[in-house]
Amino acid sequence: HRHAIILAGGSGTRLWPLSRSTMPKQLLALDGDESLLQQTARRLLPLVSADRVTTVTHQDHRFEVMGQLHAVAPALADQVLAEPAGRNTLPAIAWAVAAIVRHDPEAVVGVFSSDHVINRVEDFHRAWRAAEPAAEAGHLVLFGIRPTEPATGYGYIQAARPLMEGVEEVSRFVEKPDRATAERFLEEGGYYWNGGMFVFRADRFMDLLARHQPALAEAVTAMAAAGAPPTAEAYAELPNTSIDYGLVEHADRVAVVPAELGWNDLGSWEALYQQRSKDPDGNVCQGTVLAEDSRNNLLWSDDSGLIAAYGVEDLALVQTRDATLVCPRSRLAELKQMVARVREEH
Ligand code: GDD
Ligand code: MG
Repeated sequence: HRHAIILAGGSGTRLWPLSRSTMPKQLLALDGDESLLQQTARRLLPLVSADRVTTVTHQDHRFEVMGQLHAVAPALADQVLAEPAGRNTLPAIAWAVAAIVRHDPEAVVGVFSSDHVINRVEDFHRAWRAAEPAAEAGHLVLFGIRPTEPATGYGYIQAARPLMEGVEEVSRFVEKPDRATAERFLEEGGYYWNGGMFVFRADRFMDLLARHQPALAEAVTAMAAAGAPPTAEAYAELPNTSIDYGLVEHADRVAVVPAELGWNDLGSWEALYQQRSKDPDGNVCQGTVLAEDSRNNLLWSDDSGLIAAYGVEDLALVQTRDATLVCPRSRLAELKQMVARVREEH
């Protein structure tokens, strides 16, 4: 039986000042009228019924998440698990799988990030369907995106040989390699980026978890039985690790569905600039923007007033009610530390 898990607990630091701890990226409408979370849920519904979609988020965002999901399909709001603390993706996924497996031991589960853009929805559905026979056969199935640059923010999947129709066996998985390693992978060829989506049989996932993270397996089984998380203190004791580091790197029988989905993880302002459609001068404008003699800019106002740009090029300007970011587009990648400082000091 097909089930889905939506991960919606990220804290969203990369699109500062728009994304904040109070409004992380997945809850914002960055690409269209609906939030990325709503678009994610809507994309799943042609293949899975709403009462078999479990969403995991931080308890601070629980009601916002439920409201957004309810607007897409009311039944989605009934399966929201609220974590007392962010412990990265493995505890979140494990809790949801433990809850699913209690009611449906034969479940085949797809796990999806709530903060990605997928432009080719039919291809996404095709990839999900292609993953399932391999998952049924006991594989942990990933979605492989063709890499375009030696990015260090992704997992890298080395494919070995065809396994089934549209599925390849994985010989190696490396989460977030350093720059030199990523460059070597690209030169060697035969690698995919991990799309951050996973399909597996629920019982097989619990077996893997028991083998590689036994304490976590025990904790989430107890949580699923109790129907609630433990105290915040106890939850904060769970291992703080992602599925990629905590499980996929160690698992045997991993497979990949190569999938060209028009996928973008919107991990930076530059990624957002690339994703959005441009005006004839190459500007991406959001909110009330007046741009004259200005080219290739990202001009973003979250409705906190007018942006008037004159004679500027290749600039990112993001204006919110209480903070404004201005930076050459070519230097956006350097912002990380400054943003971390700002978040601490302001
Ligand atoms: N519930 C919950 N709790 N959700 C979380 C938590 C948490 O503690 N932490 C992150 N998430 C959600 C995020 O909101 C996002 O939708 C998803 O889980 C993935 O987390 P990220 O923090 O964005 O992961 P990443 O981008 O660094 O890396 C993952 O995605 C890449 C593709 O975008 C990995 O799977 C990489 O291997 C992959 O290439
Ligand atoms: Mg991400």
